[in-house]
Amino acid sequence: MAGEDALFQRFGKEFKRGDVLFREGEPGKEMYVIQSGKVNITKTVRENAKILATLGAGEFFGEMSILNNKPRSAGAVVAEDAKLLVIDPKTFEAMIRGNVEIAVRLIKKLSDRLQEADEQIENLLLRDPSSRVVHYLWQAAVKRGKETPQGKLVNVNLNELHGRMGVSAQEVQEAVNKTAKARIIALVPEGVLVPDTGKMQKYLEFLEMKERFGD
Ligand code: CMP
Repeated sequence: MAGEDALFQRFGKEFKRGDVLFREGEPGKEMYVIQSGKVNITKTVRENAKILATLGAGEFFGEMSILNNKPRSAGAVVAEDAKLLVIDPKTFEAMIRGNVEIAVRLIKKLSDRLQEADEQIENLLLRDPSSRVVHYLWQAAVKRGKETPQGKLVNVNLNELHGRMGVSAQEVQEAVNKTAKARIIALVPEGVLVPDTGKMQKYLEFLEMKERFGD
């Protein structure tokens, strides 16, 4: 797109996988818009780095410390080679003040992010890894699942899930395999298919009972 090229000429920078864009606690000097590639938003708890979110093309980050003048709430690391617009605070503020459309999009995105953070808190309150994985997929199917003749399709990369729910990659794999074996989900190239979200909710209740009372 010509507009995107012009923006890239002015604000664009290219980054390699593994580049640290900023660390949690640093002062914020700019915000970023992703044109291509992926960026992990990370938080370190007791020396363990956890991934809060993996952001892709069209998404932005680093705006919070620019808006509230507080240190970076999380770190940002390039997960896949990326082209980013790097925008200084003055330009960012001028963009928001000068364009209601941008301001509305920003508010919508921040609301989505808050809702996702609330879902994540709910998820982390579940104790066992299987419940966390099934709960995440169930919520994603109900809230964001794409309607198909076979059920709700959740576009998800299962390799990106473990960091955000505090379980290991192996635990995600085991939970997914068990749930697929019980025919609650089906694995498809685009992600995960949920034929019946009501049945999945019952399965989740069953897992929670099992956790509380044993087999
Ligand atoms: P800032 O605090 O400047 O630096 C870290 C950035 O990570 C923050 O702005 C947000 O843009 C982004 N961020 C923080 N928490 C989350 C989250 N839970 N999900 C997605 N992005 C986040």
